[in-house]
Amino acid sequence: MNMRDIIIAKRDKQSLTDEQIKFFVSGVTDGSIPDYQISALLMAIVLNGMDEREMTTLTLEMAASGSQMDLSYLEGVPVDKHSTGGVGDKVTPVLLPLIATFGVETVKLSGRGLGFTGGTVDKFESIKGFNVEVDSKEFPRLVKETGMVISGQTPDLAPADKILYSLRDVTGTVDSIPLIASSIMSKKIAGGAKVIVLDVTCGSGAFMKDYKMAKELAEAMIKIGKLAGRKTVAVITDMDQPLGRFCGNILEMQEVFDTVTGKGEEDVIEVVTELAFHLITLAGKDAGMSPEVLREEIRARLKDGSCYEKFKTLIRSQGGELSPSGSPVYVDKPFDCMHVNSPESGYVQGMRADLIGQASVLLGAGRLAKTDSIDYGAGIGFFVKTGDRVERGDSLCALYQGENSNLPEETLFDAMDLILEAYEIGPEKPEKKPAILDVIT
Ligand code: URA
Repeated sequence: MNMRDIIIAKRDKQSLTDEQIKFFVSGVTDGSIPDYQISALLMAIVLNGMDEREMTTLTLEMAASGSQMDLSYLEGVPVDKHSTGGVGDKVTPVLLPLIATFGVETVKLSGRGLGFTGGTVDKFESIKGFNVEVDSKEFPRLVKETGMVISGQTPDLAPADKILYSLRDVTGTVDSIPLIASSIMSKKIAGGAKVIVLDVTCGSGAFMKDYKMAKELAEAMIKIGKLAGRKTVAVITDMDQPLGRFCGNILEMQEVFDTVTGKGEEDVIEVVTELAFHLITLAGKDAGMSPEVLREEIRARLKDGSCYEKFKTLIRSQGGELSPSGSPVYVDKPFDCMHVNSPESGYVQGMRADLIGQASVLLGAGRLAKTDSIDYGAGIGFFVKTGDRVERGDSLCALYQGENSNLPEETLFDAMDLILEAYEIGPEKPEKKPAILDVIT
């Protein structure tokens, strides 16, 4: 078998055999296939696609390219959740303690943010003392004590995906449903999940810009999950505007605190509730409740203090500091440095979440390169969102930076310009769009 024949087969629209895919992934992992041949095959896959069997074999081979987590120490079914990313996505820090109140245990491996998509690890790291580099030997003890652990991804988890992703990034081969689906699912499978609930974001601030593409990606991942023997559900959520009222690390964690203490924004609660519902049900922890009763119970636990208690336990168990009043202590203080005012009166028709995300990165909340440092206090707070009324001169949003950072004025003005471009104001009140667009099982 040789790589040239495999490239030619995909170029000529043939299905690759399992042996060919195994040969490819093992050569990627051990470095025996040169980058130019890997890239040529990636481009052929972008152009000619893959069928379900090919995608599943690729996923399982990538999952097996490094160490696979053994979660047999968990009392229940190992579950995992994945979001395809967005702006203001603070779902995981609410979801983990929430499902833990139902006895659903999670070992959550998360990444850092890159570009305008925030990373859960960065959010937790904005809490003073919180350790996100947990030794995997500590996982069983932490899960037993608190029901959950959150940690950065280990380098030996699906290494073939890391090599492929860095080549895809520079060869224009990221945008491909089979490649995205297998990349995401390989990491979930290597992470030991038997139940996978996917939050497939859809809209201007997401990878998938429209519903049709989001549905196609969701279906591809569900097919892989099914063929790989994992129970998989995908929830398609709206990312045509930021989720919640804030984006930026500390600002989002403050919003997480509000949500776990019963004062959350409705869109955040809707997404969290739907994902929690599927995780709890598929893990068999619904205690026979009907779907309506379970959804009500999930919402109730955000209000009655039980999710908050679990949240505090999580913070303490990983070394995070809590103030005497029970809120996290952060590494910095967000400082409200400029307001962006509406140039006209009317209703907010929409907010380009990608431009908002770019503005947030300019303020220092995100990274453009993996090695960039971030300002944990930076971000944006939205006074109005889609459907709200504004008068000319009203504040649309506030820009924040960390107390000790000192952004040049022109950077603030560049961020302001992006935000003015992002907010579309018009005379008619637009129809309200739900936060959950679809659920695919
Ligand atoms: N996220 C991933 O993990 N992989 C992709 O290919 C795209 C998004």
